[in-house]
Amino acid sequence: MKKIKVAVLVSGGGTNLQALIDKEKAGMVPQAEIVKVISSREDAFALERAVKAGIATSVAKTQDEVLDQLKGAGTEIIVLAGYMKVLAPEIIENYPNRIINIHPSLIPKYCGKGFYGMRVHEAVIAGGERESGATVHYVDEGVDTGKIILSSKVPVFEGDTPEKLAARVLETEHEILAKGLNIAVDELLKNQGGQ
Ligand code: GRF
Repeated sequence: MKKIKVAVLVSGGGTNLQALIDKEKAGMVPQAEIVKVISSREDAFALERAVKAGIATSVAKTQDEVLDQLKGAGTEIIVLAGYMKVLAPEIIENYPNRIINIHPSLIPKYCGKGFYGMRVHEAVIAGGERESGATVHYVDEGVDTGKIILSSKVPVFEGDTPEKLAARVLETEHEILAKGLNIAVDELLKNQGGQ
C-alpha cells in the first residue's frame, strides 16, 4: 500500500522526531513514512537521529529552501517537531490541512507569540495551574492557532520547577505526536478519496 510521505521539520534535540521514528518502526504509524528531516540549524542533534534511522536530511536556512526541499521529497504531510521558525504563508498555502505541530501546553492556554520552550512551563507554574499538557494541532497562518487535533494532560505538582514540568510534558508529547499524525493522515486519505 502506498504510504503517505511525511517530512519532519526540526531545530533542536529531536526527541519528538525520535519518538515518531520509534513509533513508525514499531508499526504504529502504518499509513505513513518519514521520508525527510529538514532542520533550520546544521548543529541540530535531530539530524543525527535521522541519519541513524536512515532518513534523508537537509538544512534549510530560508523558507524558499524549505519549500524546495519539501517538494523535492514529494512531501504530503509536514510535522513540525521543535521547529523554531515561523513557516512562510506560501508553504502553508501549498500544504492546506497538511501541516501539524506539537506544542507543550493545553492550547489555547500558554501558546502564541513568545510561548515556546521553557517559557511555556514557567508561565504555567507562575499562573498557578494544577494541570498542563501537550497539544497537536494543524498549522495555519497564526502562531499555535490552527484546529486542535488532540491534547493530553499532565498534573502540575506543588514545588514543580519549570524543568520538572517540561520533562513531564515532553513524555506526553512523545505519546501524542504519532497519534496526531495518524489522525491527520486518515483525514488526508478521506479527503483524497472524496476528490
Ligand atoms: C518540545 O517541547 C516541543 O513541544 C517544542 O519544542 C520542543 C522540541 O523538543 N515545540 P525536541 O527537539 O523534539 O526534543
